[in-house]
Amino acid sequence: MMVSAVDSRIKLIAILQLAYSGELAAAYAYRGHWHSVRNPDQRTAIQNIENDEWQHRKLLADLLTSLAAGPLHRRETRAVIIGRTLQFLCHVTGWLAPMYGAGRLESHNVCEYETAARHARDCGRKDMVDCLLDMAEVEWEHESYFRSRVQEHFVGRRLPLWPQPPAKEMIRVSFERELMSLSHQNGSPYVGAQAVIES
Ligand SMILES: [Fe+2]
Ligand SMILES: [Fe+2]
Repeated sequence: MMVSAVDSRIKLIAILQLAYSGELAAAYAYRGHWHSVRNPDQRTAIQNIENDEWQHRKLLADLLTSLAAGPLHRRETRAVIIGRTLQFLCHVTGWLAPMYGAGRLESHNVCEYETAARHARDCGRKDMVDCLLDMAEVEWEHESYFRSRVQEHFVGRRLPLWPQPPAKEMIRVSFERELMSLSHQNGSPYVGAQAVIES
């Protein structure tokens, strides 16, 4: 079924609003996380990830403005509560739980930005696609970092992990393949990198 441009625009705004507030919660949580770890390399790496999330928030604010939309107040309030709580909890839960939780969350973020890029394409905002796929790639790097840390831990490597995202290159490859396929047929079903790998 052909998704209408209006539907896609509504979905795009909704997902960007979610992501905008999600970045706030993540940034606060990572601030607590890097303050709580002792290893200097890990502190720097997680601090850099925090900075990436603030940068994403700025980009998302611009994207929302260009869609004549803005953040949702209740989502922002919720994000502050969740982010500040996680920021505090990082200091009491030990090393593994924040690494595991972050990896899981980042895996979700990769898909979220891929989906947003598809909505942007479907509502005629192709100018946003590159920025959204860039953010998906940065989230991929974040997921990879936290996965590696969990796998270094003697308990973590025995835990069942969240599904591993396909190779980073597949984010753009799957998107390009969809564009080629859409040029030959009507309809734009969501086909993420995972689906392309499995096809
Ligand atoms: Fe982010
Ligand atoms: Fe991230």
